[in-house]
Amino acid sequence: MTVERIEKIFLGLTAAMLLVFLGALFYSAFGMGMHLPDRAGEILPSEVRNTPPFDDPGVREVGDNQYEVVLIGAAWSFTPREIRVPAGAEVTFIATTTDVIHGVHVEGTRVNFMLIPGQIAKVTSTFREPGEHLMICHEYCGAGHHLMYGRVIVE
Ligand code: CUA
Repeated sequence: MTVERIEKIFLGLTAAMLLVFLGALFYSAFGMGMHLPDRAGEILPSEVRNTPPFDDPGVREVGDNQYEVVLIGAAWSFTPREIRVPAGAEVTFIATTTDVIHGVHVEGTRVNFMLIPGQIAKVTSTFREPGEHLMICHEYCGAGHHLMYGRVIVE
C-alpha cells in the first residue's frame, strides 16, 4: 500500500467519525429532546432575596404530585440546606445566585446545573427511590467552596 492510499483511508475514517458524532448530536438534541437546563429568566443578583419567588426559598407543593424547590446559592451555602420531597414526585428546581457562579449537583442523580449571576435556572427531575443525596456546589467559588453543600431527602 502506498503512503497516499493510507492517507486517503485515514481521511475517510476521520470524515466518517465526524459524521457519526454529528449524527449522535442531532439525534440526542432533536430525536431525544436533550438540552441544557432552561434559562427561565433574568434577575438582579443584589435583589435576589427581595424578588419573588426567591424572597421565600424552600419546597412547596404546586400540584398533584408536583413540587417546586426555590433555591438560592450564595458564597458559601445553599438556602434551603435541606430539601425534602416524596419519591416519584415531579420536582422543579428554580434557582439562582446572589454573588458568583456556583454549581448544583445532586449526587447519584442527573440533576446538575449552574447558577449564573443574573440568570434563573429551571430544572425538572423525578427522584424515584427513597433515600438521601448530597447536593454539592461543583463550581469553584472561593475559599469556602468545599463547605457549600446541602441534602436532598427523598421520602
Ligand atoms: Cu459555590 Cu463552589
